[in-house]
Amino acid sequence: MTDFKKIISHAKEYGFVFPSSEIYDGLSAVYDYAQNGVALKKNIRDYWWKSMVQLHHNIVGIDAAIFMHPTTWKASGHVDAFNDPLIDNKDSKKRYRADVLVEEYCAKIETKIEKEVKKAAKRFGDTFDKAQFLSTNPRVLGYQEKIDAILKRLGKSLEKEDLADVKALIEELDIACPESGSRNWTEVKQFNLMFGTKLGASAESAMDLYLRPETAQGIFVNFLNVQKTSRMKVPFGIAQTGKAFRNEIVARQFIFRMREFEQMEMQFFVPPGTQKEWYEKWKESRLKWHLSLGMGEDNYRFHDHEKLAHYADAAADIEFKFPFGFKELEGIHSRTDFDLGSHEKYSGKKLQYFDPERNENYVPYVVETSIGLDRMFLAVFSWALREETLEDGSSRTVLKLPALLAPTKIAVLPLVKKDGLPELAKSILEDLKWDHTVVYDEKDAVGRRYRRQDALGTPYCITVDHQSLEDQTVTLRDRDSMAQERIALADLPALLDEKLNPKNWLKNL
Ligand code: GAP
Repeated sequence: MTDFKKIISHAKEYGFVFPSSEIYDGLSAVYDYAQNGVALKKNIRDYWWKSMVQLHHNIVGIDAAIFMHPTTWKASGHVDAFNDPLIDNKDSKKRYRADVLVEEYCAKIETKIEKEVKKAAKRFGDTFDKAQFLSTNPRVLGYQEKIDAILKRLGKSLEKEDLADVKALIEELDIACPESGSRNWTEVKQFNLMFGTKLGASAESAMDLYLRPETAQGIFVNFLNVQKTSRMKVPFGIAQTGKAFRNEIVARQFIFRMREFEQMEMQFFVPPGTQKEWYEKWKESRLKWHLSLGMGEDNYRFHDHEKLAHYADAAADIEFKFPFGFKELEGIHSRTDFDLGSHEKYSGKKLQYFDPERNENYVPYVVETSIGLDRMFLAVFSWALREETLEDGSSRTVLKLPALLAPTKIAVLPLVKKDGLPELAKSILEDLKWDHTVVYDEKDAVGRRYRRQDALGTPYCITVDHQSLEDQTVTLRDRDSMAQERIALADLPALLDEKLNPKNWLKNL
């Protein structure tokens, strides 16, 4: 995988992600999506929406407002419990999330395990059995035991709100400030992550509001409206994509942890007592969605939560192997009847469903799938970016995005800027643009144009040459293999449809 700094600079240089308000030196952990980034982001969002809403007869979508009545956040528990444990280093004056410091310590031990695996794989060659090695090698087992013990203690201390023990753990592990190297820490304190704002024109009448820290609550408060107007029967789901805001203590690692970000969430309402079954089902279904993009099974793993959020009776993350290690990409949470029950209590309105099969009223239980769109963007982008050495010794930078997600699907290139080639190339673009995002490029030698499209992640280049004028054929170049095939113009639409139509990707789900 490419170096992280290279990923950030590529994202900027090729018009994917810019720092926010850069002319004023940027704003910490806030980013703008540029012309290619916005297209990649939209393609990810569309693929998620199609898989959730279009393919499920029992899931519908909504788009709730970012502003919500402030009591929403009291009922959801965010006013009282949406905190992160923070710790300051007295020498560097830098602020950290105490749990993240401990997790990063564990990630370092994990790197040692990976090194042992690599060494053994080299030693044993084809006969190497990774699973057996991981379960029998004494050194690996020792490392794993250490990680498990640390994370268990951290989980327990956080659950009991024993912040003194979290500090004790940091001291026992001898964790130093990454900035100053000092171990001079403050006490661990809780910090609420919600951004406050005001609604109303005059100071007296203004109402204190929060920017939503998750999109889910917009779904919960609309549960009955949607159920009644769509006449859905439980089990059914409501999906939504939209912005969420968190005043993250440590917002590092580019778009991995931002203060303004986008979530894609789906709340699935189920009869009480069936939540475990649906939880397992959605875990499997969401992993399948990720795997359908072809980014390698080994790059994903489940992580079951030790410390459960205030609303959950089970929770797991789908973790992805980012350039800085395995980290949470998506959460699947069994949220019980906590949210609906609590909104009933605070609003005084019934949020119940009459189940004709059970012949009873109940507050449904909820299984939620929640993925960060920006984090998914980073997963795809960082996985895709490669530096390749070619057979002739030269190198190329290529963005091997899953073709379905690429901002531009096809570049049409006349070999030269004369002899009627630009005219034919432009007419091909005009034909294809109804079904695909297509660009036209005639500047520079064709080899340089290929490199430019490789770096932008364009999966196919169509080159128009003199032969094209004679026999109505073009060459189709594949970004990944760089192979070029001569294709009749008449066959192009069907061929491209087979490779790019979202239907053919969704069928793998
Ligand atoms: N409704 C449940 C919920 O919000 P979460 O685990 O806090 O759960 C869900 O967030 C997903 O949102 C995460 O898996 C991650 O992909 C994304 N996410 C959370 N905080 C984020 C941040 N500060 N920046 C970018 N993405 C974030």
